[in-house]
Amino acid sequence: TTSGASAAAVEKGNYRHFMQKEIFEQPTVVAQTLKSYIRQSDNTVALPQMDFDLSAIKRVTIVACGTSYYAGMVAKYWFEHFARVPVDIDVASEFRYRDPVLEEGGLSLFISQSGETADTLAALRHCKAAGQTIAVVVNVPTSSMAREADLLLPTHAGPEIGVASTKAFTCQLAVLAALAAHLAVKKGRMDRTEEQEVVRHLLEAPAALNAALDHDDDIAAMAPLIAPARDVLYLGRGPDYPLALEGALKLKEISYIHAEGYASGEMKHGPIALIDEAVPVIVLAPSGPLFEKTVSNMEEVRARGGQIVLISDREGLAEAGDGCIATIEMPRVHPLIAPLVYAVPVQLLAYHTACVKGTDVDQPRNLAKSVTVE
Ligand code: G6P
Repeated sequence: TTSGASAAAVEKGNYRHFMQKEIFEQPTVVAQTLKSYIRQSDNTVALPQMDFDLSAIKRVTIVACGTSYYAGMVAKYWFEHFARVPVDIDVASEFRYRDPVLEEGGLSLFISQSGETADTLAALRHCKAAGQTIAVVVNVPTSSMAREADLLLPTHAGPEIGVASTKAFTCQLAVLAALAAHLAVKKGRMDRTEEQEVVRHLLEAPAALNAALDHDDDIAAMAPLIAPARDVLYLGRGPDYPLALEGALKLKEISYIHAEGYASGEMKHGPIALIDEAVPVIVLAPSGPLFEKTVSNMEEVRARGGQIVLISDREGLAEAGDGCIATIEMPRVHPLIAPLVYAVPVQLLAYHTACVKGTDVDQPRNLAKSVTVE
């Protein structure tokens, strides 16, 4: 269902589409969301009261669909890196039918904008019946998932009207980063100074999102390069790999161009066969320890005539921007918040490409805002 009632109640303001408005709301709603998870007095993470012992959690099982699933993929990196807790992750429709092993002492975490997605809700009930502790990250605090959770972690994105999720995603990432840090503290893997350091980086996100949005015009200007493509490939590594998947999903959803997201290093095991002058390759690569690896993947693309669009910071563009058909400059940020910041250019690229093609951005064909059937 798409909620016509709330669409009527929420104004588009000066924006052409709800999706565009929601992309631009991200600095504000991410700040709003972070505010409710950070104790201002000492810059540590504050989570709602819970009646179970988080430090006893042995494994986290993440289940979600669509864009929310990609937020979960990013969270897996964070939970394992910071808290050293093993994480399983599945799309909800697979999870339900694969007979997953749910051991005692497990936390099952469901991520959903609507809190009503049928497959995710069914997975939640399955985990609950199996005795798992249930945590949910949802944007609708009155939703079914919110009501059935042991731990409710709301995102404060406000109503999201555009069918393709944008601001809910970055708010989910903000909550998940806070949860990862808190779990790490409870597990004795993070001391107070490190926790405050994480919080400090998270608090840099709203300004960094604004800096990313400043490149809206550049992205609009390059959309005509992408619009004629039949296929587009998105590449990323580490916690930015799920962003490549999200970029491809956004483009498919609203511009109807076939797109695939791939882990940069996996490209040579298949998609490289597709590369020629007609396939734009969007590379998401903040400078940092993994950058050199990605540069060599870019060489592989270039050697086959591939047309690269590099999204990186000034350092990355200085090193590898030459020979790209276009570049998009992002602020230089701590790796923790890169997935939030790099969400902006992939959203805007899909948005402007869809505008060039003249598709119905807010109500793409065949898609629904909330999928309440299996
Ligand atoms: C639909 C929407 C997507 C969304 C997915 C999961 O497919 O079109 O934008 O990511 O459902 O929705 P949820 O409400 O569970 O996050």
